[in-house]
Amino acid sequence: MSELSTKTALVTGASSGIGLAISEALLKQQCRVIGLARDFTKVTLGNPLFEANTQDLSDLQGTSDWIKKRCKNTPIDFFIHSAGSGLFGSIEQFSVTQIDQYLKANLSSALVLAHHIVPGMRRHKAGRIIFIGSESALTAGKKGALYSSAKFGLRGLALALREDCSKDGISVSLINPGMVKTPFFDEQSFRPGQDPSNYIQAEDIADCVINILHSSTNIVFDEINLSPRNKSIDFS
Ligand SMILES: NC(=O)c1ccc[n+]([C@@H]2O[C@H](COP(=O)([O-])OP(=O)(O)OC[C@H]3O[C@@H](n4cnc5c(N)ncnc54)[C@H](OP(=O)(O)O)[C@@H]3O)[C@@H](O)[C@H]2O)c1
Repeated sequence: MSELSTKTALVTGASSGIGLAISEALLKQQCRVIGLARDFTKVTLGNPLFEANTQDLSDLQGTSDWIKKRCKNTPIDFFIHSAGSGLFGSIEQFSVTQIDQYLKANLSSALVLAHHIVPGMRRHKAGRIIFIGSESALTAGKKGALYSSAKFGLRGLALALREDCSKDGISVSLINPGMVKTPFFDEQSFRPGQDPSNYIQAEDIADCVINILHSSTNIVFDEINLSPRNKSIDFS
């Protein structure tokens, strides 16, 4: 039996792409998964260890109320934050409301979730937190003002928490993928080139997460940067 089988993971973005692949990998290890997303109608995980929770992360008060209640009822061993979306363009293209909603969903919600989850982990002197960042957390490019603002911020949160929490037995890791072939690109005017050397599979990121969770609690994978071997982008 897997050492993860007695554990409970909160996985955000569990309805699609990377978060879905991570949930499936955890379920294979008999880990209990509390999934969070806005819409689970597009997936059927059909596993009694999976629990779907519908929550919009741009609603910070709703997210705070929900996670506060969850932490009271269920200790969370692993917090894996994958939820996120892409919004690319010049800064003047976005309304103030769009900017506000985007940063709430893609950055502030991570702080709110951590605010409620970390105290329980500190009490238990154990816990693993993994953020899915991006290569856009390391360098910024054209039309990336919103996306990189959120991802640089998330990276700052991950690095600060890593320092704040290690004395209490909590390890914090950040995975920065390059292009991953997921529905993320359905709404975009670009996507990875068709040759498999141009993209990472969501399952590759899930493998990385499982390896982190199986590693010694005395070491921390601070930051992992993962890129496809080649970088060819298709534009439409
Ligand atoms: N794909 C890539 O090339 C790539 C590269 C680097 C980093 N990333 C990052 O990886 C993460 C996962 O992306 P993905 O590729 O797996 O994309 P995806 O397939 O579109 O999945 C995104 C997930 O986030 C959830 N989500 C988005 N907005 C939300 C909100 N406001 N409230 C709650 N849940 C929300 C979505 O669920 P609902 O729509 O059901 O709410 C979905 O489950 C993101 O943070 C993304 O920035 C992706």
